[in-house]
Amino acid sequence: AVDLSVSWLGVNMENPLYNASGVMCRSREELDAVAASAAGALITKSCTLLPREGNPEPRYAKAPHGSINSMGLPNAGYQYYLDYAKAYDHQGGKPLFVSVSGMSLEDNLEMLAAFRDADLPCLVELNLSCPNLPGKPQIGYDFEASSHVLSEVVKVYHKPFGVKLPPYFDPVHFAEMASVLNSFPSLKYVTCINSVGNGLVIDLDSESVVIKPKGGLGGIGGDYVLPTALANVREFYRLLDDKHVIGCGGVKSGREAFMHILAGATAVQVGTCLYEEGAACFARIRDELAALMQEKGYATLADFRGKLKTM
Ligand code: DOR
Repeated sequence: AVDLSVSWLGVNMENPLYNASGVMCRSREELDAVAASAAGALITKSCTLLPREGNPEPRYAKAPHGSINSMGLPNAGYQYYLDYAKAYDHQGGKPLFVSVSGMSLEDNLEMLAAFRDADLPCLVELNLSCPNLPGKPQIGYDFEASSHVLSEVVKVYHKPFGVKLPPYFDPVHFAEMASVLNSFPSLKYVTCINSVGNGLVIDLDSESVVIKPKGGLGGIGGDYVLPTALANVREFYRLLDDKHVIGCGGVKSGREAFMHILAGATAVQVGTCLYEEGAACFARIRDELAALMQEKGYATLADFRGKLKTM
C-alpha cells in the first residue's frame, strides 16, 4: 500500500531510483538494460562532442567500502546519445535523462544546441564535476567559472535543466555555489554528488595503487561517500530556491535511499552498487525502501522528504 512514485519537472517516475550517470549507460544495450529493470528512470553516460576512449585501464576498482574510478569520460560521442534519445519511446518508456560533459564551454554549447533543436522530452544533467581529466579542473570548484558557464548555457539552452555537482566540504562553499545556482531560474535541479575526487586506494599486499591513471588517484564512490553526499543534498535542499535536489552517493539499500529523501532528495541515483550488483539492484532497493516506509508508517515519499530532524 506504499506509493513510491514521484513527479517532478514533468517527469513521472514509478519509483525514485535511477542509475548514476556513468554506470550502465555507455551503450544502447546498457541503457536498454536499465530501461528494462525496476529503475524509475535512466540517464546516459556523460557525453562529449566526439567519441572518447577514456583513460588507460585498469580505471575502475572495487575498494573495501566502495569504489575508485578514473574512467576519463569514455563515451560514444553526443550524437550517439542524441540518436538514442530520438529513437526512445518517451510515451511508453520511463523518463530518459541525458548527461552532457563537454571538454570546453564551446563543446557544451554546441551539444546543448543540438539537444535543444531536437526538442525531445528529456532533461539534461550538465556535468560540472568530472574529477578524472588530467589537467582539467572540476568547474564546480570554481564559482566564477561555474557562473560564467551557466550564463552562456542559458543563452543557448532555454529549457529546464540540471547540473551534476562535485561534493563541497565547507559551509561557505555551499552558500557561494547556492547563490550562483539561484541566479539561474531555468536551472531546475542539481544532482549531489559526483564522486569524491582524487582519492587514493592502496592495495597493501602488492603495495600498489589499484587503478592506472593519474598515479592511482580517482573518484571515490560507495559507503565512503554517503555522509558527504547526504550533507550536500541537505545543504542544497536548504539553500536553493525552487529547485530539486537529486541524491547520489552511497546508496546500496532502501536505508540509504530513505536517508537521501529524508535529507531532501526528490529522486536517488545508484552508482557503485549498480556497477557491482547489476540492474537487479533496482528491484531490491525499491522493495527495501517500500518495506522501510511501511514499517515507519509512511504512504508516500512526500510524507518524509526533507523532514530530517535536527537537535
Ligand atoms: O567519477 C566520475 N567518473 N565522474 C565523472 O563525472 C566522470 C567519470 C569518468 O568518466 O571519469
